[in-house]
Amino acid sequence: PQAQPDRGRADPSPEALQEFLTGLAAEIHARADWGKVADYIPELADVELAQFGIAVQLADGSLCHAGASEVGFSIQSISKVFSLACVLGRIGEQIWQRVGREPSGSRFDSILLLELEKGIPRNPFINAGALVVTDELLTGRTPRDALAEIIHFIRAAAGDDAIHIDRAVAMSEQATGDRNRALGNYLKSYGNLKNPVDYTLGTYFHQCAIEMDCLQLARAGRVIAGLPGAPSILAPARARRITALMLTCGHYDESGDFAFRVGLPGKSGVGGGILMVAPGRASIAIWSPGLNATGNSRAGAYAAEKLAEFTGWSVF
Ligand code: DON
Repeated sequence: PQAQPDRGRADPSPEALQEFLTGLAAEIHARADWGKVADYIPELADVELAQFGIAVQLADGSLCHAGASEVGFSIQSISKVFSLACVLGRIGEQIWQRVGREPSGSRFDSILLLELEKGIPRNPFINAGALVVTDELLTGRTPRDALAEIIHFIRAAAGDDAIHIDRAVAMSEQATGDRNRALGNYLKSYGNLKNPVDYTLGTYFHQCAIEMDCLQLARAGRVIAGLPGAPSILAPARARRITALMLTCGHYDESGDFAFRVGLPGKSGVGGGILMVAPGRASIAIWSPGLNATGNSRAGAYAAEKLAEFTGWSVF
């Protein structure tokens, strides 16, 4: 018979966790199984491949980290977690009239289901769904103000006012964003985009271009993980819904595999970042810029799996 998981297992001490993370960073460099950096814009294509950072914020307030945990990276689609948090705070459950809550099983930028489902994107973490969320945040405001709300939320969550947007990344996203523009126009044709496509796209490209390091991202994730001491800017019931979506939809068409291997809610970005939470216990940021074929961090997913094994934090 299979061994039962130890449900009552205590969290590792910060010292034991720190030792584990240091060893994990060394192991990942020794494996050297990095994948490939995203190459659709020069700012991502030029990032050095052989990098790995991790930071784990524990419920007791300690922050353990290893590797390149203080190197800034483009958070890209991880921003979709924070824009969703903002929109839930602004209009609450009404957002579900415009976007669904089911995994898509398709690529992050796929247009396929939009026609079948008449302009209602499957979930807020695929690009079409994130565009709808950003569009809602824009309603009645300028792109500058909507963007300010997202960045202020992230800064407040992390307790760090230095978090900023990388303008060069935002410009490159604009220059190469034809597929996102197509998604925007398609949504508009179904009446599911209220603002001019360029406004919504511009805001979306800038939110994707937010730069953070693992320390900042792990701290920002405290509000999603519901850790004690996190600033009260997100109602616990909303954090639970966001984490449910991270588990089911956070890694696009690899979400099932991530849940199977790791067993924790996580959201990936094409910059190689992963924000992952062990609800009530830890907020975890992992970064390694090399991606697998699905566009998720290769070494990052490996590290997530090893961390879940070590801590017993899988929700299953
Ligand atoms: O929308 C895009 O194409 C990018 N700016 C962000 C997508 C992303 O991070 C997808 N993730 N793996």
